[in-house]
Amino acid sequence: MRRITIKALLSEAQAGQEVLVKGWVRLHRSSKAAHFIMLNDGSCVNNLQVVVDPNKVAVELLKSFTTGACVSIKGIVVDSPAAGQKYEVQATELELIGACDETYPIQAKAHSMEFLREVAHLRPRTNTFGAIFRIRHNMAMAIHTFFHERGFVYFHTPLITASDCEGAGQMFQVTTKNLYKLEKDENGNIKYDDDFFGKQASLTVSGQLEGELAATALGAIYTFGPTFRAENSNTPRHLAEFWMIEPEVAFNDIKDNMDLAEDFIKYCVRWALEKCADDVNFLCQKVDNELVDRLKFVLEHDFIRLPYTEGIKILEEAVAAGHKFEFPVFWGCDLASEHERYLVEQHFKCPVILTDYPKEIKAFYMKQNEDGKTVRAMDVLFPKIGEIIGGSEREESYDKLMQRITELNIPMKDMWWYLDTRKFGTCPHSGFGLGFERLMLFVTGMANIRDVIPFPRTPRNAEF
Ligand code: 4AD
Ligand code: MG
Repeated sequence: MRRITIKALLSEAQAGQEVLVKGWVRLHRSSKAAHFIMLNDGSCVNNLQVVVDPNKVAVELLKSFTTGACVSIKGIVVDSPAAGQKYEVQATELELIGACDETYPIQAKAHSMEFLREVAHLRPRTNTFGAIFRIRHNMAMAIHTFFHERGFVYFHTPLITASDCEGAGQMFQVTTKNLYKLEKDENGNIKYDDDFFGKQASLTVSGQLEGELAATALGAIYTFGPTFRAENSNTPRHLAEFWMIEPEVAFNDIKDNMDLAEDFIKYCVRWALEKCADDVNFLCQKVDNELVDRLKFVLEHDFIRLPYTEGIKILEEAVAAGHKFEFPVFWGCDLASEHERYLVEQHFKCPVILTDYPKEIKAFYMKQNEDGKTVRAMDVLFPKIGEIIGGSEREESYDKLMQRITELNIPMKDMWWYLDTRKFGTCPHSGFGLGFERLMLFVTGMANIRDVIPFPRTPRNAEF
């Protein structure tokens, strides 16, 4: 007999049907007349209730059906008298596949998120993390579908690179050198010419530079892959290894870029509401009661679009009116998450796209405005998250780009291939990066980014 998943059983089976189900016991309770086994196989958030008549099975076998045990059950589907579930199964045959003793850390009780991080190898077996990882899969599908339907090419950019896209110097080095015997030249610099790549190499912080090469050939591309940042920020919104989606489109200006970003996020949020309803509703009940309302709100409202300078004015007015921020606000400051969230949550009560930031706080590749002070950057700011997307129109003028590279002292020899796009048939183009885990925070209502990726990498933590 073929196994049926619990999802299929609950949605497609008929009363009276004989079924075979396999999964892990979430809870086993008993009364004199019957044992109740809550079974989950990961196919959906709902458990299947299995009713066992203790007179029809060996006592020892039934005893081995402990929380966490992997089991196989044959039985008959019947209408469930219990509220909240359509069917249950009356067991006819039980089999223990893998026993689980009482040292199993995930017993049927409430566990803190902190505790579950310590057992991240087992936490997908909880309802909450099952829901999160099914939604994560769905968001990946939504992203590929969105771009594929619009004719974008999924372009694979390298993870090992010799250039620092964001210029922030937050890169993890990749080397095969023996760190115990590092040779240095007469100036005290490490010699890389005999290293694996013959030069200093790192894990990429962004696929954008190579993405631009592709966009100026294929027209519209996106990347979707892991990126790495050695920034020592221990916050609920930063990971050292995170996934990023980076579309890049030839001939798009910043306005087109904002339209694309807004359409894209709304598409993902709609997908979560429509195709992950069970999991999203579960998280809304368990984790964040306002989740569904917040998701719907984003769908129903146009994002506010506003220059950085205007944003700073609003924040300065807030300070003048007595609002306390931890970090100072002034024209030229890099916005902290508290500033971003003030604009979104308190002032506009709506997602905001902030544009035209001071060039000093943004990367070298952004298109320079006529004022000589700002660049055509755009950050999308979201409730509870702050920055969810960062992007810009790109500087397409070879001379202006070179001038910025020189001002910032970026090593030219590493950038020659990037500059070629501006030499050979340059064109206006724009793109952005969406932090996949920031999107995940938004659509799950989870509070900590460590809880929306299976195995988080953060400062001093690379377990599992
Ligand atoms: O703003 P960022 O640094 O922009 C770029 O990397 C550009 N190259 C993107 C582009 O224009 N193609 O990062 C983009 C997004 C942020 O808005 C944020 O959502 C996410 O990536 N992000 C992080 N997510 C988790 N942990 C971190 N340490 C992150 N750093 C950035
Ligand atoms: Mg950014």
